[in-house]
This record gives sequence, structure tokens and C-alpha cells, in this order.
Amino acid sequence: MKNFAVIGNPIEHSLSPKLYQLFSEHIGTTLSYKKLLSSNENFPKDVRDFFLVGGAGVNVTVPFKELAFNLADKLTDSAKKSGAVNMLSQEDDGLLVGDNTDGIGLVNDLKNHQGISIRDKAILIVGAGGSAKGILPILLDQAPKKIVIMNRTLEKAKILAAQDHRISVSQLYDESQQFDLIIHATSLSLQNKRPALSEKILTSTTLCYDLLYAKSATPFMSWAIENGAKACDGLGMLVEQGAKNFFQWYGVDVSQHCIEVIGSLREA
Ligand code: ATR
Repeated sequence: MKNFAVIGNPIEHSLSPKLYQLFSEHIGTTLSYKKLLSSNENFPKDVRDFFLVGGAGVNVTVPFKELAFNLADKLTDSAKKSGAVNMLSQEDDGLLVGDNTDGIGLVNDLKNHQGISIRDKAILIVGAGGSAKGILPILLDQAPKKIVIMNRTLEKAKILAAQDHRISVSQLYDESQQFDLIIHATSLSLQNKRPALSEKILTSTTLCYDLLYAKSATPFMSWAIENGAKACDGLGMLVEQGAKNFFQWYGVDVSQHCIEVIGSLREA
């Protein structure tokens, strides 16, 4: 039986153990999957200790994706591009390989479950931390019309915007443009809060996408719905990135089970 873990802080809310258990049931195998609570100081040791006791893979969640990027000895192309790592594995020679499947998880969720293709869309990303940085490269790859980054600290948004002419920056609460897709990438949902945004940026077809997932609507999602837009959380992204990780671990494509797994996790 293979052993996996997800490492983050907080970690109690994580649905990853249940997610991979559901995928493994679909292919008739069993796995062991733990939650590891860590800290910035202990993160490298906690990861290495897990591999020392026979771990086969570690999923990395908030707030350690950039630390995982720095810890990895080798990076896949998507990890290199995004500057963040959400999955670590270890090669036979002991080298840690960092990958990033968040971006493809987001794009697949939008395409397969929300009916949205990024091409020619006006996209707003709220937040300019590790989560925002991680999804930017794949969004750019999908040929959006434009991407605006709104952040409390404008300097951080400007650093991200410098990578491509299609990205511009804006202050929180700017109300001068409307968007097809608004991605909430700040850490505020974890505190049950939302960023200050003007409802003027919404239309009735705007999809407000919270990268985090929660049992009930996050404050960002509630704000969107109260103002006549559409909203969803990041559960579909979690499941779609999980399918990619699972393929790397077991060589089996479980993507056709994603819808069913999303439904089971909603009820969990
Ligand atoms: P993550 O890895 O989840 O992206 P992060 O890198 O610490 O975490 O980034 C957190 C993001 O949430 C940043 O965009 C941060 O804004 P600043 O760059 O201005 O710090 C945003 N954020 C956190 N607390 C916030 C608050 N109270 N109001 C607005 N934005 C906030």
C-alpha cells in the first residue's frame, strides 16, 4: 500500500484524504493518506521525515507552496513557470521533485464543470500572493483577452504583472471595469472574510470563483450571489488537480470520475 500526505496550516479542513480514497476505490486499490500540520520552520523537516518513513508523495497546500518550490531539488515545467509547488515526490536517488497541478486543475474545472473557456475572457484575479502567482501562467497559456490583478499591496501585483503585457494592475475596490471571471486568490476566506470589491465589476454572467473550498458559500461567493452574479468554490479545482496527481502516482486516468467525486465530497 502506498502512503501519501497533505501538508498545510490549517489542515484540519482538508478534503484531500477523502478525495484520494474515493479515486483509489474507483481503481480497486487502497492507500494511506494523512494530514500533516506544519509551520514555516518545520516544513522542510516534516516533508523529508515523511519520505524517510516510506511516503510516496506529498500534496502541499496553503501556505507552503512557495516553500515547497524552494525545497524541491528538481521542478517540472509547470512548477517552474508558476513559482509554486503543490505536489512533491521523491526519486530513487532521494531527490525531491516539485510539480504544480493547480493551474491545470483550475482550467479543467472551469472547462468541464463550469462551462467556461478562458479564451478571450476578461479576468480579474484578486490577490497577488502564492495562489495568484501559481495560476497565472496557465491562464495566460489559454489566451485570455486580459488579466487584471487587484491587490491590497499594489507593489506585489505590479511584480506579477511585469511578466506579460496582457496583465495590468488595479487597487482594491476599483470599479472601472467589468469581468467575465473573477478569481478570489487572497487568504481572506480562511478567516471567513472577503476583500473590499465594488459590485459594479459584476454582470449577471460573471463567474466569481473562490480558489478555496468550504462547506457553505464563502463571504466572497455570498457577495457575488447577493449582487446577481454566479459563484463557485474551488472544490472542482481540488478534484481535477487530484486526478492529475493520481495519474502520476498510479498511472491510471480517473478524470471520468471527477463529477461523481465532487458530488461525494459535497456530501462529506
Ligand atoms: P497564498 O499562498 O494563500 O496566496 P499569501 O502568499 O500569503 O498566501 O498571499 C495572501 C494574499 O491575500 C495576498 O494577496 C494578500 O494581500 P497583500 O499582498 O496586500 O498582503 C491577501 N490578503 C491577506 N489578508 C488580506 C486583507 N486583510 N485584506 C486584503 N487582502 C489580504
